Amino acid sequence: MGAPHIRIIFLGPPGAGKGTQAARLATYLKVPRISTGDMLRDAIAARTPLGQVAGPLIEKGGLVPDPLLIELITERLSQPDCAGGYLLDGFPRTLTQAEGLEKMAPVASSEFVVFDVEVPREELLRRLSGRRWCPTCQATYHIYNNPPKNDSLCDRDGTLLIQREDDKEIAVARRLAEYDERTLPLIDYYKQRSCFHRVNGYRPVDTVFGELRQILEERR
Ligand code: AP5
Repeated sequence: MGAPHIRIIFLGPPGAGKGTQAARLATYLKVPRISTGDMLRDAIAARTPLGQVAGPLIEKGGLVPDPLLIELITERLSQPDCAGGYLLDGFPRTLTQAEGLEKMAPVASSEFVVFDVEVPREELLRRLSGRRWCPTCQATYHIYNNPPKNDSLCDRDGTLLIQREDDKEIAVARRLAEYDERTLPLIDYYKQRSCFHRVNGYRPVDTVFGELRQILEERR
C-alpha cells in the first residue's frame, strides 16, 4: 500500500512495542521510520558531539535535552526521503518537543496519525528485561517472545546480541519515571484531536499490527 504524505507519531512507555510496530508499519507504508533512540545510539557509537552528551544520559535512563532533539529532528525531516511522509518513533517525548514539531509540521493537519500504545507495567518490565539488541543493525529480539534463530546471534548479520545498558533494572526504573513525568502529559495534549488513537499493545505483535493497519485504512 502506498500512502503518500502520511505522518505517524508513536507514543507509549518504554517497552510498549513502538519500535517493533514502527519498523513493520514503515515497511508496509514505504515511509522512513525515524527512531530518535536509534539515531542517538548511532551518534554514541560514532562519538559525535551529540553522542558524547547523550551517552551518559541514556545509560542512566534520563532524557536527552529538548533543544538537541528538536535540532536533530528538524534536520532529519528536511531530508528528501521524508517528503512523502514518515513515522516518528520516540519523538516527541516532552511538551516542548511537541511544540517544536508543531512548528515543523502542524499536527492538526489531516496527514497526522498519533498512536498511543498501552501495555501494563509488569509486562513492560518483562519485555525490557528480556530484550536483546544487535549493536550492528539495531534489530531487537526477546529471549522468549522473539528469540533469534541461532542462540544469541542476530538473524541479519550474525553479531552477538547484547542487553542494552538502559534495559538494566535501575535505568528502566528511571526511564519509566521520566515517561510518567514528561511524556504522559503528551497524551492530554493530543487526545482531543481526531488523529489520536489508543491501541492495546498487550497482544501478539501481529494482532497489534493488524489493528494499526485497520485504523489507517478507516482513515483513508
Ligand atoms: P528509545 O530507544 O526510543 O527507547 P524507549 O522509548 O524507551 O523505547 P524502547 O526502545 O525501550 O521500547 P519500544 O516501545 O520501542 O519497544 P520494542 O518494540 O523495542 O530511547 C532510548 C533513550 O534515548 C531514551 O531513554 C532517552 O534517553 C533517549 N531518547 C530517545 N528519544 C528521545 C527524545 N525524543 N527526547 C529525549 N531523549 C530521547 O519492544 C520491547 C521488547 O518487547 C522487545 O524485546 C520486543 O521483541 C518485545 N515486544 C514488542 N512487542 C511485543 C508484543 N506485542 N508482545 C510481546 N513482546 C513484544
